[in-house]
Amino acid sequence: MDFRTHVIAPGATSRFAADALLIVLAGDAVPATLDEPLAAAVKEAVAQGDFAHKAGKQVYLRQVAGVKAARVLVAAVANGSAKALKSALVSGLNTLKGLGVKHLAVQLLGFDTLQSAHAEALATAWGDAVYVYRTTKPSATTVPKLEKLSLLAASKAEATELGAGLVRGAGIVEGVTLARELANRPGNHCTPSLLANEARKMAKANDLRIEVLDHKAIEKAGMGSFLSVAKGSDEPPRFIVMHYQGAAKSVAPVVLVGKGITFDSGGISLKPGAEMDEMKFDMGGAASVIGTMRAVAQLKPKVNLIGVVAAAENMPSGRAVKPGDVVTSLSGQTIEILNTDAEGRLILCDALTYVERFKPAAVVDIATLTGACIIALGNVRSGLFSADDGLAAELQAAGEAALDTCWRMPVDDDYDEGLKSNFADMANIAGRAGGAITAAMFLKRFTAKLRWAHLDIAGTAWKSGAAKGATGRPVGLLTHYVLSQAAK
Ligand code: BES
Ligand code: MN
Ligand code: ZN
Repeated sequence: MDFRTHVIAPGATSRFAADALLIVLAGDAVPATLDEPLAAAVKEAVAQGDFAHKAGKQVYLRQVAGVKAARVLVAAVANGSAKALKSALVSGLNTLKGLGVKHLAVQLLGFDTLQSAHAEALATAWGDAVYVYRTTKPSATTVPKLEKLSLLAASKAEATELGAGLVRGAGIVEGVTLARELANRPGNHCTPSLLANEARKMAKANDLRIEVLDHKAIEKAGMGSFLSVAKGSDEPPRFIVMHYQGAAKSVAPVVLVGKGITFDSGGISLKPGAEMDEMKFDMGGAASVIGTMRAVAQLKPKVNLIGVVAAAENMPSGRAVKPGDVVTSLSGQTIEILNTDAEGRLILCDALTYVERFKPAAVVDIATLTGACIIALGNVRSGLFSADDGLAAELQAAGEAALDTCWRMPVDDDYDEGLKSNFADMANIAGRAGGAITAAMFLKRFTAKLRWAHLDIAGTAWKSGAAKGATGRPVGLLTHYVLSQAAK
């Protein structure tokens, strides 16, 4: 990725040398700052009905006389927001990536103010456009030629502001790409051991400290709930702890905890067959933690960050945990496992207890935890659960800033009622109603000593259908949150 800003004089767009120009226009007319050969071409396109200053409209122009770049794509945005810009950029880049464009210049015109968020939107749209999953499909050779991006700025001050956004966006793109790559890999490739090895590689390449606990060490630590999930599988579990130190050792760290179920068959409470393949994405939370560590290692904020991944495979077998079994969690609380498919909370509860030792400033767990969260929020916003109003507000704001949004859900104690058990301190499921909240209430029972929030990303970590694949969410949200903690 070669992202840079260029200050150009007003009216010099036509003379800028690149393989293609992508001009994004806000407002309802051609801005005066667009110079003549281009302005005339856009006006002509409007007159001929090929373009309008309306969201979603694009016009592709080739070999415009007097314009140095051979290709020009003009796109209109709904308004001057970074969100509207990103959607225009996504479609613009999709048009351009199939062409012979190596060096793309982008100019944003008619915006009231340009902020780093606009440049970040460009970087992340670019990252999404050029990513191709090839690990188990090497024939997917449509690797785009896009190599170099020049974002044109009207002044030095604007270039500084936009440049900061490109830098932040480039870091997020690295993290998102890694998260997508890991989550897209099939379950027979992406096992808990592979996740640990990939985390090690990432840590080594980025100067992060890492520890990996194997089955024996997890047992020794006392994570009986976590181990009960791993029991049915021939794949050994892994507990991964990554450390980024950007502030003094005495500064309390932010801790991220990711659900790393590399395949969720449901276990003895076996899932129905339809779409079961998508349960390879059940390590999306883990992928987002590893991706965020990658992004933060590149952006180097003055903050301490610990990323924890609990990785296991949930399988039925003669050794698998059964409905009715009671296990003892690391916290000492006992759990009656009424449904082995509610396994995410069983691995996370032990991870949450484990991280108490780091005396964290805040703990955020990230998990593809419940189908119920998809019913509640669809595929747009992740579910956010926290009893701490300040932490919830910070995470919500980080999501808005990153265009990787979440929505707060309730965690009133009344929702805890259904988790009561006659045979253990709690059951791992309650009734169907409010299932995403029940799951959060289960986790909440392990967070008395923590400033804690939970993100349910079941609806946002991957896409189904023709575009099936991991999204890399919520790396953007998490990275913004971590950066915001450094500013204080
Ligand atoms: N990994 C699933 C949640 C999930 C389901 C995510 C579908 C994305 C799509 C989780 O482990 C699970 O199976 N949850 C159960 C909980 C239930 C048994 C209380 C669910 O949501 O059905
Ligand atoms: Mn499950
Ligand atoms: Zn699961």
